[in-house]
Amino acid sequence: MPLKRIAIFASGSGSNAEQITAYFSDNTDVEVSLILSNNPTAGVIDRARRGFGKELHIPVLLFDRTAFYKTDRVTQLLINQKIDLIVLAGFMWLMPGNLVWAFPNKIVNIHPALLPKFGGKGMYGHFVHEAVVAANETESGITIHYVNERYDEGQIIFQARCPVAPTDTPEAVAHKVQLLEHKHYPRVVAEILVKPTPVNP
Ligand code: GRF
Repeated sequence: MPLKRIAIFASGSGSNAEQITAYFSDNTDVEVSLILSNNPTAGVIDRARRGFGKELHIPVLLFDRTAFYKTDRVTQLLINQKIDLIVLAGFMWLMPGNLVWAFPNKIVNIHPALLPKFGGKGMYGHFVHEAVVAANETESGITIHYVNERYDEGQIIFQARCPVAPTDTPEAVAHKVQLLEHKHYPRVVAEILVKPTPVNP
């Protein structure tokens, strides 16, 4: 098949970005072509500088809020670079309309809970796991979904679950959820590239 090109948006530690780049590093059909971030001090930038532990030299584009929301520079770059799939991995900002319209059903995100529960504005990072524990949930997990212009509302592609014990702290839940993210996100991205809506195994 023709080479499929992925762009990863990340603004946090970048552990998922690293898992995904490593997963495709030996794949001749798929490449991570670009890393994009709004945060110059994010861990993902450091990981990219270090070649994601594998001497991968993936270009990094840093942009600010004005460039992202008041211009179509980022969208144009993604079009010019012939990006096939945009993967959000710890990117906090809403996607602007021009980007969503230019890449319909070609933007995916991972959320560290079982949507539609524990999603929406303000539900990110440790806030999610604190809310899960405070609600006495017996399970949590991950949701991989398409992205639209609202937080955490696009069509769900894949979910995986983990148990939450009554004694679990938010940190313990975060750890279980991160294991699920690293296990499934690269594989589900690979499936999306070959067929648009993978089903849960
Ligand atoms: C993950 O928990 C992901 O679900 C959420 O942001 C976090 C990113 O973590 N969207 P990392 O930067 O990939 O380590």
